[in-house]
Amino acid sequence: MVRFSGALFLGWLLLLPAVQAYAQPRAAAQDTAVVFKSKSCGCCNDWVRHLRSNGFRVDARDVEDIPGQRAKLGVPQELGSCHTAIVGGYAIEGHVPAADIRRLLKERPRARGLAVPGMPLGSPGMEGPRKDPYETLLFQPDGRYVVFERH
Ligand code: CU
Ligand code: CU
Repeated sequence: MVRFSGALFLGWLLLLPAVQAYAQPRAAAQDTAVVFKSKSCGCCNDWVRHLRSNGFRVDARDVEDIPGQRAKLGVPQELGSCHTAIVGGYAIEGHVPAADIRRLLKERPRARGLAVPGMPLGSPGMEGPRKDPYETLLFQPDGRYVVFERH
């Protein structure tokens, strides 16, 4: 009995480095956001800054065709904003707060991603004279969505 649990413990010790090696790159990959934006978009840059200051690594790429990019990532056009990103396998459309992305990556719901349609004043990267209420939507590839967070 003692010998059996000893072998089990040894087995775990041998397995541990493999588990860690597997887990670490995954966690790092989840924190990297690839952002597709148009060159002239100022609020896109401000949103990129918001992600970076909240611990995300950002790979920002300028693209000509934003609706085309949206379609490629499975984001319904009617939920469109000014930029599209991909984080941890999810599509992130528009000025979605970093905290919502963190919650998404933690809960990992079955969905295509999150969207803040349009460009609501007061959302991250859209700071201005006033703060309008807005919702972060959790959407499916077919365009169905539920409210994920109210701001
Ligand atoms: Cu914008
Ligand atoms: Cu933008």
